[in-house]
Amino acid sequence: MKVIGKPFLTVEQIQRRIRELALKISDDFNGKEIIAVGILRGAFMFFPDIVRHINVPMVIDFLIASSYLKSQSSGEINIFADLREDITGRDVLLVEDIVDTGLTLKYIHDMLLARNPASLSICTFLDKKSRRKADLKLDYVGFEIPDTYVVGYGLDFDGRFRNLPYISIFKETI
Ligand code: PRP
Repeated sequence: MKVIGKPFLTVEQIQRRIRELALKISDDFNGKEIIAVGILRGAFMFFPDIVRHINVPMVIDFLIASSYLKSQSSGEINIFADLREDITGRDVLLVEDIVDTGLTLKYIHDMLLARNPASLSICTFLDKKSRRKADLKLDYVGFEIPDTYVVGYGLDFDGRFRNLPYISIFKETI
């Protein structure tokens, strides 16, 4: 049986933090144009919520990547759809739902860095720092969370629960 507990992060906590992050990003990129890249599928909810509060000129793009099978990282990163924009010489902001081992984002980061952007920053909604395997600098972090499996607000278990507007702890019982 798959169970989710009461919200670990409520809609209000999430939306308040997003406005803080967006303000910081707007300050940091003041006077510049950014390419905001949503990394799908996980960032499908966080991405529109944060970009609508970022107050600098912006081009939107997406990248579809995956590494997880059920709740385990497969370790192998698949890019299902690449960017449509040429990022050479431009300021790029990667927007991700969660950094866990960091292997997914490290792969994407290195792949995009090779295209010579002017800058390449990372914004993640959740940071499960204790699980990190890849060396990665996170510029904007919504919440640092402990090593528990969470779902909702874009995060799934086997494709489910992504549509919850809040974050819950997921448990699978027999
Ligand atoms: C999830 C999440 C991150 C990645 C984080 O994606 O969206 O991209 O895993 O894990 P890592 O830091 O250990 O690499 P997933 O592969 O489940 O695809 P999804 O975005 O379609 O959920």
